[in-house]
Amino acid sequence: MQSSQAAEAGKRKSLHGHWSSRMAFVLAVTGSAVGLGNIWKFPYVVGQNGGGAFVLVYLACVAIIGMPVMMSEILMGRRGRRNPIATMALLGDEEGRSRNWKWVGGMGVLGGILILSFYSVIGGWTLSYVINSASGLFSDATATEITDIRNGFIGDWKTIGFFHTVFMALTIVVVARGVERGLEQAVRFMVPALLFMMVILLGYSISSGYFAEGLAFMFAPDFSKLTWDTVLAAMGQAFFTLSIGMGAVMAYGAYLPEETSITSASATVALADTSIAILAGLVIFPLVFANGLDPADGPGLVFITLPLAFGQMSGGTFFATVFFVLLSFAAWTSAISLMEPAVAWVVERFNRTRAQAAVMIGLLIWVVGFGTVLSFNELSEFRFWRGTIFDNLDHLTINIMLPLGGVLIAVFAGWVMCRNSTADELGGTGAIYKLWRVLARYVAPIGILFVFLKAVGLLPDLS
Ligand code: TRP
Repeated sequence: MQSSQAAEAGKRKSLHGHWSSRMAFVLAVTGSAVGLGNIWKFPYVVGQNGGGAFVLVYLACVAIIGMPVMMSEILMGRRGRRNPIATMALLGDEEGRSRNWKWVGGMGVLGGILILSFYSVIGGWTLSYVINSASGLFSDATATEITDIRNGFIGDWKTIGFFHTVFMALTIVVVARGVERGLEQAVRFMVPALLFMMVILLGYSISSGYFAEGLAFMFAPDFSKLTWDTVLAAMGQAFFTLSIGMGAVMAYGAYLPEETSITSASATVALADTSIAILAGLVIFPLVFANGLDPADGPGLVFITLPLAFGQMSGGTFFATVFFVLLSFAAWTSAISLMEPAVAWVVERFNRTRAQAAVMIGLLIWVVGFGTVLSFNELSEFRFWRGTIFDNLDHLTINIMLPLGGVLIAVFAGWVMCRNSTADELGGTGAIYKLWRVLARYVAPIGILFVFLKAVGLLPDLS
């Protein structure tokens, strides 16, 4: 019984087509993973948490928690070949367990919609900085002027709403065009372009005269700066940056050809994602030190200090423009993956075309996004629970839904799915399989649960 079902699972086809090659899949997942999380968030959390020691813990978390959860998502996606909701119902059934695991997929679909609602606003903010940079607005500007520009931008709901609208429209267009034509072509172009632009910027930061300082800040670990909070922040960053916990990678896994090695694809993606984050740090910190800025500045590190830094350099208008184009690309490819689970679900469940589904889901996300747009201006005083509407969405999705989803995904792949099924997808029961299983069954659920409990304040301070 089990084995005939396994044979059937092997023959299942996705309803949305397949990636044309292993490379296309790796590019797509890399495009999802690399985003505002790497280029905007990574440098500022490294800065806030004192540099080197944080980076080491983050790297360890990517390896021992991120990798096994990502492998679990991909193997579940490929075995189910459906949207995350249908995949988890189908696999739960097939393993002789409950169909109710579909609710984990459902939480992912909802999580993607909610995350994209604010991600799109920050993505639009990035887009607007392409125009600001190109028009020379930042050249020779003072810190006060740049802060005024920032405040003027987010203080006006019409402007921030306009760019949110443009960003969502761009995302809808790619998702509507489908796996083969839309997603694949988009990432095939964007990921190499992204890497290319990072290398140009790296060249510039090396020539800034402060490269050694940047390098030391990122890689000379000061373990006295390591607290439980730092470890937890590093773990959370690893989790968010790899796009795991809400079925985005599971949805992409559904289009993965049978013969591709999930282990090596995951390793390639984790390596690419981590390299781009490190590259972003190597670009940003020398510029920070060269301009006497504070690495612990916080979320404004990209939107305030970089325009300031670029504005003081010769050729700064050009480099700032390149940088924000780069950040917009990265945000765009991530946004596509945040929408994919919901769109795949609407296509399969309600028999819609991809274009219809993308427009429906996109409009919904666009409307919800105004909660975030207004959080910075008209409704900035409307506060409950964690703060503004944006603060609540951010906390609910990243600190609660993603960790919870990650635990459940690891438990599903490690405990609900039988050994035969997972070994079948991961290509046998060798040493790597055994390692994955220990990580998925014990290390990842316990580790992520720890982050989760900390985030909801159920763990006492240990340091
Ligand atoms: N990883 C992306 C970033 O670093 C964001 C992202 C895209 C994401 N898809 C996701 C995060 C799914 C969590 C889950 O910007």
